[in-house]
Amino acid sequence: MTSPFLAACRGEPHERVPVWFMRQAGRALPEYRAIRGEGDILDAIRLPKLAAEITLQPVNRYGVDAAILYSDIVVPVAAIGFGVDIAPGTGPVVAEPFRSARDLERLRPLDAERDTPYVLETVAAVVDALPDDVPLIGFAGAPFTVASYLIEGGPSRTYAKTKAMMHGDPELWTALLDRLADLATASLRSQIEAGARAMQLFDSWAGSLSPSQYERFVLPASRKVFDAVADLGVPRIHFGVNTGELLPLLRAAGADVVGVDWRTPLSVARERVGDDVALQGNLDPAICLAPWDVVATEVRAVLAANNGHPGHVFNLGHGVLPETDPTVLERVVELVHAEGIVR
Ligand code: CP3
Repeated sequence: MTSPFLAACRGEPHERVPVWFMRQAGRALPEYRAIRGEGDILDAIRLPKLAAEITLQPVNRYGVDAAILYSDIVVPVAAIGFGVDIAPGTGPVVAEPFRSARDLERLRPLDAERDTPYVLETVAAVVDALPDDVPLIGFAGAPFTVASYLIEGGPSRTYAKTKAMMHGDPELWTALLDRLADLATASLRSQIEAGARAMQLFDSWAGSLSPSQYERFVLPASRKVFDAVADLGVPRIHFGVNTGELLPLLRAAGADVVGVDWRTPLSVARERVGDDVALQGNLDPAICLAPWDVVATEVRAVLAANNGHPGHVFNLGHGVLPETDPTVLERVVELVHAEGIVR
């Protein structure tokens, strides 16, 4: 059976507009809250049976066209012992942030089979359970976004320390991003070899950079990741938030699919990246908290802005908000499937 999601990623003909949601597995789902327990999410990720079930929950509930592995962008750095936790409600926190060349030693290469066997077990279990036409998306954090957590020690609004290192010590910065590119590559290759049929590189916070900063200090490392998985032949999705001005560069880094947040209409994004690439997006996740008729209008507006281009994967512009009513997302999937037109 062919997958509408994979076909759309490649701009090939398919029957219906595919849809999945970033953060589709998570706290919006009562069945997630029921089995997730209270512990650290990194502990939950280390339990393949649990992680596989959580990965499958949104596929069963929403009828989305792709699954995304239940994991996190900090799993590889945590697995090699950098010292990262995920604080509920906050995100990744690092007790001893990355400060100097000596910290490079804390970033040894990832041996995925030895360091993250649980990830590969989860991938295998999920792929085994999924129908043929619903692929699993593997993912990794892009070098810049992971670096921002390692340097800031946690989430940041300004990325001041990150940018200070980038501009003040370009040599150290380049060495750091190079190591993070290798970690992302090793993780992605292992997920794809275990059965993931697409991949997404999350550079969630790249939108904090100007195009010239991005091009000089970040693009080479992300390009290294995309190039290093090209031979595996799976669609490569590149996503960030607030990246309206960076879209051509996200494409240039080597993506087959460019993620777009809600700030840039798909018609504008299309002009910026060209016709020969797919777009993913871009309903504002907050819209899903509004009454259904508002949601429906906005879903239709996203479809209209894409104007039937075969390279469109419907998604939110960022992750599902935890307070979202899951029945709204069920209806979004139904509506996209019913009314999305592929030229
Ligand atoms: O369904 C999916 O999208 C797959 C699972 C997934 C998670 N994290 C699970 C998770 C994915 C793809 C990620 C990637 C991730 N992690 C990103 C990139 C995507 C994005 O949102 O831009 C980033 C920046 C992180 C770092 C991170 N991890 C944050 C900011 C948080 C939120 C903290 C919180 O509690 O609100 C996490 C924790 C996290 N990762 C949760 C989930 C479901 C929530 C915590 C939990 O349920 O215990």
